Amino acid sequence: MSKITAAITGVSGYAPEYVMTNHELETMVDTNDEWIVSRTGIKERRILKGEDQGTSAIAIPAVLDLLKKTNTDPAEVDMLICATTTPDLVFPATANIITAETGCVNAFGYDLQAACSGFLFALATGAQFIETGKYKKIIIVGADKMSAIVDYTDRATCIIFGDGGGAVMLEPNTEGLGVQDSILKSDGSGVPFLHQKAGGSRRPATQETLDRREHFAFQEGQQVFKFAVKGMADVSAEIMERNNLTADDIAWLVPHQANKRIIDATANRMGVGPEKVMINIQKYGNTTSGTIPLCLWEFENQLKKGDNVVLAAFGGGFTWGSIYLKWAYDPK
Ligand code: UT7
Repeated sequence: MSKITAAITGVSGYAPEYVMTNHELETMVDTNDEWIVSRTGIKERRILKGEDQGTSAIAIPAVLDLLKKTNTDPAEVDMLICATTTPDLVFPATANIITAETGCVNAFGYDLQAACSGFLFALATGAQFIETGKYKKIIIVGADKMSAIVDYTDRATCIIFGDGGGAVMLEPNTEGLGVQDSILKSDGSGVPFLHQKAGGSRRPATQETLDRREHFAFQEGQQVFKFAVKGMADVSAEIMERNNLTADDIAWLVPHQANKRIIDATANRMGVGPEKVMINIQKYGNTTSGTIPLCLWEFENQLKKGDNVVLAAFGGGFTWGSIYLKWAYDPK
């Protein structure tokens, strides 16, 4: 029997309607459009509005659309992993809310927290389940409502984040397509540079944690930037080298969208030209677990069967990694 690989057989995304431009941010903090565009590449981001709307409100429409596009009966889905840093609730998992609301009644699921590398880690995990031969349809979601934990008085941080996400279907493939290799890394010495101080078991919510604004994402941007440039470029170069890939062999680089300068540094290190790099940071900013599926969704029509695709991410934790896959279908 030929080896089973895990192939992406469909992709969908969801960007909330409300557009927050750099000009709107100018009315909230001391910043300007020129600074934000030149330092990050971001022009606008989406914000999920409305009472009681959590990350599942992004994931559910994406999954429903994915089921429709792939002509999948939700009852056939075996598993759903939701990569997110902004779950609807501390517990239970957002994956449970998504499966219940999308009719995936036979799927088990859980959330995976790896900050901005979440989608990559979840995709690598789902691929392992497919490769066992026991699971036939797995949905990988990457979604975040970053506006729930962004401090809109912190100009160095609030300008990069936005809300959004997407989902992919993973299925077994026996033509050698799909996930070929992955490199995943974690280093907890990065915790001080990007984290949320309160709201976990170490510092549960109190009036003091609220007054000190500790329920927001805290970031030392310059430090994170330094590690991100090196981390994302290193793993992307390493995955090329160990799979004997030259820049010419690569059809697409799909980078996490945190800062256009980090993306450019990664592409340069790989020797990949800008025409092969998926970029939509200008429209959505950094949606954490959402960036890579949002890119795949937007560029789906340009992907061809057999294309060599490298995904790369870096995020809080620190977590980082890359995945090399062969795209499994032509534009429909
Ligand atoms: O998603 C995965 C994890 N996150 C990342 O990968 C993000 C990595 N970090 C970054 O992308 C960048 O560090 C930021 C975009 C967050 C910040 O850009 P930077 O070039 O590192 O700015 P900085 O913090 O070094 O600040 C440079 C200057 C400072 O002024 P002085 O001290 O030189 O006078 C800041 O006060 O820019 C000032 N500044 C701003 N000015 C206008 C910081 N934020 C702003 C702002 N508007 N929004």
